[in-house]
Amino acid sequence: MWDDKGEQYLDLYGGHAVISIGHTHPHWVQRIEEQLKKIAFYSNSIKIPLQQELATKLGQLSGKEDYQLFLCNSGAEANENALKLASFYNGRKKVVSFTKSFHGRTSLAVSVTDNKNYIAPVNETGNVIFLPFNDGQALEDCFAKNGKEISSVIIEGIQGVGGINVAEDSFLKKIRSLCDEYGAVYIADSVQCGYGRTGKFFSHDFAGVKADIYSMAKGMGNGFPVAGIIIAPHIKPRQFQLGTTFGGNHLACAAALAVLEVLESEKLLGNAVMVGKYLKEELKSIPELKNVRGRGLMIGFDVPEALKDLKKNLLLNQKIFTGEAKPNVIRLLPSLALKKRDAEDFIEAIKEEIAAMAVQEA
Ligand SMILES: Cc1ncc(COP(=O)(O)O)c(C=O)c1O
Repeated sequence: MWDDKGEQYLDLYGGHAVISIGHTHPHWVQRIEEQLKKIAFYSNSIKIPLQQELATKLGQLSGKEDYQLFLCNSGAEANENALKLASFYNGRKKVVSFTKSFHGRTSLAVSVTDNKNYIAPVNETGNVIFLPFNDGQALEDCFAKNGKEISSVIIEGIQGVGGINVAEDSFLKKIRSLCDEYGAVYIADSVQCGYGRTGKFFSHDFAGVKADIYSMAKGMGNGFPVAGIIIAPHIKPRQFQLGTTFGGNHLACAAALAVLEVLESEKLLGNAVMVGKYLKEELKSIPELKNVRGRGLMIGFDVPEALKDLKKNLLLNQKIFTGEAKPNVIRLLPSLALKKRDAEDFIEAIKEEIAAMAVQEA
């Protein structure tokens, strides 16, 4: 990226994991431009063949070919529809969510988000049960007590806003088996950790489980607002349950198709694994940085109080964008096309900044 003075920056944050294939990728620009000249929008009262094309391609690349697709415009909206559909499906009201989760800012999505500052009184509902993340026993106890009332369990495969906390494979398996036993719906919030970011299409795939509904947004459009849920075949939405004016419009579908085409042709999931592995190994070898974690190109690490200006210094001195999670985590969510040599530059830069701050301290 370049600023208004022509200064060049390396973007390792992609505007909260949105830039999946790279800013202004030529194929993405071309796809959108060509579509714009044909038609940008018409409502869902007509059949839009691009939606079918997108559904087919998404099914192929994600390995969920038998799932159904509903398109909307943002991550919050995707989760809102997922939670609502689950409740339509089993007629129940309660939702299980986890500590440090973030699922969006609209009414139901924010009510399952573990941050009191975001929840207005009008969003408060007695229907949400928050449980400790990765605590299998607490989950079992909760189902034993409320199992027949639980409509859905919503979980990020890797918590993003919460600080890059990886859901254990055994925990996701437990969610799957308890949802099966009690007739609840497993919702995999893949808005931040999905769409190839971890090297698998959905991070929940690492656990070898299939969720009933996956929500997605962010990287899906590489900056064009598009989101969706994919729905397992046993959940059969009825007409009028879900709807949208803008969701799945022609331009959004063109952008989303361009992203999938580039993910495939440039083998970006493999690149995320390779560059992510390199970054994690190198970061782990820097003694000042603690608890380096994550999968693929979704990486977080703890920064000690003495290095609290590290993120700012990386930006001002090294022209490198990183992200944060409060209070002390640096989050890396770069484009999946990040080159190894850019990752090497970042490692050099972070070592330089840490050394400079150590000198200042002394
Ligand atoms: C895991 C997760 N779910 C949902 C959302 C909400 O997405 P949006 O901001 O597109 O509504 C976010 C956004 O950060 C997210 O990280």
